[in-house]
Amino acid sequence: MKDVPLGILGSGKGTNCRAILESNRSGVLAAEVRVVISDVFDAPILDIAREFSIPNAYLPPGRFHTRLEPQAEVDLVRMFRDAGVQLVILAGFMRVLKSPMLAAFSRRILNIHPSLLPKFPGLEAWKQALVAGETVTGCTVHYVDEKIDHGDIIAQREVPILPNDTPEGLHARIQIAEHELYPAAINEVCRKLPD
Ligand code: GAR
Repeated sequence: MKDVPLGILGSGKGTNCRAILESNRSGVLAAEVRVVISDVFDAPILDIAREFSIPNAYLPPGRFHTRLEPQAEVDLVRMFRDAGVQLVILAGFMRVLKSPMLAAFSRRILNIHPSLLPKFPGLEAWKQALVAGETVTGCTVHYVDEKIDHGDIIAQREVPILPNDTPEGLHARIQIAEHELYPAAINEVCRKLPD
């Protein structure tokens, strides 16, 4: 089985990107990260890509806050295609993708979200779970479609909510679960992709 060329897209800290790159380096992942792209100029995820000597780029997002400028999204498709990417991994990407990407990479874009979807889509899902008085939350890997944090679910991991949990403490424990779940789920998807 050939390694699947991956492209990672993220806006922030990049801890999931690091987990994917580490499992790639240790040979567990049936994939090869070709490029890391961020819509945030100084996002730590780009520093992580440089640390692992992975080609990386800043994509100026344009004038919108919740999505990319249409031309920027067309540019993004081209950047991934030029890198030979066959599977796109969203790792803390905080904008909604539209048709240029969804059409170019149909059922080939994955996302990780810090809740047990369909519960608590949107921002700061761990806070939403705390406020709702849940006793368990977790994280979900899913295919990306045109709705926010929505699409067929690939894998989930539960994380208990402890008495007196803080938002920060809960999110940190969810992230530990994310770092195990995401590389494993990516591997499963890669194994099933046609050569
Ligand atoms: C992760 O917790 C991820 O689940 C969340 O952003 C964080 C990114 O962390 N994504 C979403 O909320 C998507 N709706 P990272 O930059 O350290 O990987």
